[in-house]
Amino acid sequence: MAGGPVSFHSGQVPPKKDENAATSEQTAQMEQAYAQMRRKMRMEMMDKSIKHKIMVLSGKGGVGKSTVSAGLALTLARRGMSVGIMDIDITGPNIPKMMGLEDAELHVEEGQIFPAIGPEGIKVISMAFLIEDPDKPVIWRGPIKLGAIQQFIGDVAWGNLDALIIDFPPGTSDEPLTVSQNLPGIDGVVIVTTPQEVALLDSRKSINFAKTVSLPVIGVVENMSGYSLSGTAPPGSPITINGPGGKNVEVNSNSEGRWEAVLDVFKSGGGEVAARDLEVPFLGRIPFDPGVVRGGDDGVHRIVADPDGVTAKSFVGVVDNIMEIVESTDRTPVNIR
Ligand SMILES: Nc1ncnc2c1ncn2[C@@H]1O[C@H](COP(=O)(O)OP(=O)(O)OP(=O)(O)O)[C@@H](O)[C@H]1O
Ligand SMILES: [Mg+2]
Repeated sequence: MAGGPVSFHSGQVPPKKDENAATSEQTAQMEQAYAQMRRKMRMEMMDKSIKHKIMVLSGKGGVGKSTVSAGLALTLARRGMSVGIMDIDITGPNIPKMMGLEDAELHVEEGQIFPAIGPEGIKVISMAFLIEDPDKPVIWRGPIKLGAIQQFIGDVAWGNLDALIIDFPPGTSDEPLTVSQNLPGIDGVVIVTTPQEVALLDSRKSINFAKTVSLPVIGVVENMSGYSLSGTAPPGSPITINGPGGKNVEVNSNSEGRWEAVLDVFKSGGGEVAARDLEVPFLGRIPFDPGVVRGGDDGVHRIVADPDGVTAKSFVGVVDNIMEIVESTDRTPVNIR
């Protein structure tokens, strides 16, 4: 453990040497207090050292928070920004798999944890790195979870970052609350939803949560919105796809012979309506792309595998909107204490 010896000046006559010796319990307590102090100082510094901090939430599970978190991070990093992802999903951390970092080992030096480095130089820290048996469920009660999250924030050597994306488990339980209370200068919350009504309803809960803890809502992303198809044909060929509901979709292959289309399989657009109803910005749609599922399983995110595809382009639009909002000068990041 790093840090020099701690000296106390009580003005009292020092006790005899053997009485002075701290018990191992006292030493442990002292070290713990010291580590907590250092952690708190580092957390304070993160206000300045990490320019933008964005929390990714959803009311419902499986709507694509982790996919969107990784997608946002990759899109920002492809713009030359230095980016980190903090995976706070203690029960089901899956960012490492999506970023091809399943076998990564964390490096610890002087009490600081060094993040694993993913594609585009993204710094990744995840509970998954600390779990020995991924098949064993992690059951941590409140205070332990809280301590673990605080360590995740304050004990990680993030260095200077342009953006930190924070991925959460579904819902609005302890995790986002703990982060919002410990991490200074959070820009706000991005809410991920799918077009189904039940997911939309649940996203209202995330919006209400953000309002309750006074975090700005950056906006809503509608994921799995429409079905993305692509293929090749001789350059400039007209392609007709028999879409759902008897509707034909017409596209042309481009000069390289590539074509792509998005079909409205599910009722899409609900996220936009919900955002309007709830008076929060709508950030854009990401289509359902079979390549996203494959990429999640293979450890190569769709944006890495197909940087010019429909999904990557959709992320560019979402990131443009997010950056416009978080960089607008009339916004002041909040510190909740
Ligand atoms: N746009 C998309 N197109 C196709 N599949 C997608 C898309 N977004 C997410 N998925 C797939 O849906 C599944 C759930 O995605 P993901 O793990 O990102 O959701 P989550 O909200 O983080 O889940 P959890 O609530 O368990 O944390 C994954 O198999 C993922 O590959
Ligand atoms: Mg997830």
